[in-house]
Amino acid sequence: MGHVLAIDQGTTSTRAIAFDEAGRPGASAVRPLNQIFPEPGWVEHDPNEIWQAVREVCRSVIGEVGASNIAALGITNQRETTVVWDRATGEPLHNAIVWQDRRTAPLCEELEREGWGAHVTEVTGLLIDPYFSATKLAWLLANVPGLRDKAARNEVCFGTIDSFLLFKLTGGALHVTDATNAARTMLFDIRKGQWDPKLLDRLGIPAGILPEVRDNRGDFGEARADAFGTALPIRGVAGDQQAAAKGQACVRPSMIKATYGTGCFVVANTGDSDLNSVNRMLSTVLWQLDSARTFALEGSIFMAGATIQWLRDSLGLIAEAADSEEIAKKANPNSGVYLVPAFQGLGAPDWDAGARGAIVGLSRASNKADIVAAGLESVAFQTRDLLGAMREDMAGTGIGETGVLRVDGGMTTNGWAMQRLADILGEAVEVAPIAETTALGAAYFAGQAAGVYGDDAELARTWEPSKRYEPQMADSEREARYAGWREAVDRVRSGKA
Ligand code: G3P
Repeated sequence: MGHVLAIDQGTTSTRAIAFDEAGRPGASAVRPLNQIFPEPGWVEHDPNEIWQAVREVCRSVIGEVGASNIAALGITNQRETTVVWDRATGEPLHNAIVWQDRRTAPLCEELEREGWGAHVTEVTGLLIDPYFSATKLAWLLANVPGLRDKAARNEVCFGTIDSFLLFKLTGGALHVTDATNAARTMLFDIRKGQWDPKLLDRLGIPAGILPEVRDNRGDFGEARADAFGTALPIRGVAGDQQAAAKGQACVRPSMIKATYGTGCFVVANTGDSDLNSVNRMLSTVLWQLDSARTFALEGSIFMAGATIQWLRDSLGLIAEAADSEEIAKKANPNSGVYLVPAFQGLGAPDWDAGARGAIVGLSRASNKADIVAAGLESVAFQTRDLLGAMREDMAGTGIGETGVLRVDGGMTTNGWAMQRLADILGEAVEVAPIAETTALGAAYFAGQAAGVYGDDAELARTWEPSKRYEPQMADSEREARYAGWREAVDRVRSGKA
């Protein structure tokens, strides 16, 4: 009975992993997810493909582990992605609109013009942006023929991916979500813990189509036997970045994790302080337990692993992403080369959508190793920019500082990049003990509810990094390099920020 099955439904793949009573990953299965691009800037997923993949990966893992050895099921998911389905049949009424989709930019501009910015930030902790579910749902209601009338008759359910999967798994018995996913809709009042009637009214969203919001740990019903051939209790649900923070045991205020994938998501535990960021960071729910919410500050870097992919695929400087480590070691440490990967503009704390990328500081002596090293180093500089902004927001709040960054995701296997990260931050970097930190977080929520794992204090006590990088660079060198980065960033600004 000591295993917990975790589903990690991500943007590009769907995975199931069984964790044992010590939190060690065992059997796993994964399916890639088809990306649908109907128009430039639009990104969709087929909810039925997701549901099919969930069934397949779970069946495969359950087959290996044995249903009788699984105590509970936990779910974590790509956040914000918006699904509408038929309440009676569970059939999707449109493709899911993915978090990356920008089709609702005009509606967001309209909301800004109407002066909704302050209300959105005050109530939801977010910024008006197509990223979040609210305008995607408004778009669906306005553009899917018959949907608005059907919704008015209470025949429609809206939800993020977790909610859709819970509905399917329970055979339509539950239309629920958890507070972390709700917090990413731009419809949820993170202080009061309820949907915001003013935003619903402005966007023409009937309250009846929204899911009930639950704690991250607890009763999410039973996955029915017809889903995977065996019934399983669902006991934990969380959005993927919050689940990763749990998997990294960032259980105390001031603890921070960074997940390096295509981009990078940084989440800081701010305890019971729902901070209003002065640096346009997001305030969000880290988790909700016994109806009490713990909050987080979140910031993201658009280009992390994607910079290395660009060096590989567009410039052909490396054959494999992993080669970047060996090549970076050959770089001239004083090359003075900086790569500013502002391919999609600059994010926090510069917020300049019109900026574009550049490689600066090239001399006749510069070579490909210098450019590859500058690409890896740009991830460290951007992380420092982000942490600086977050710490400014947290300063004077009594939240404190750990002086350690916990990291997970693909890039953490690159020793050169992680050492440089510690050097540029001037603080220790701890690499997660297992690669699948996000799934582990979902397993922790479900497994704690099912009595498989101890409480958060116990998780914190037993959590050990697989590797720890201490800063080795002299302060003067660190600051000189960082000043060079900031100068390079200044050179790519659009001047229209
Ligand atoms: O906010 C979007 C995030 O939840 C997506 O994460 O890992 O599926 O790209 P991922």
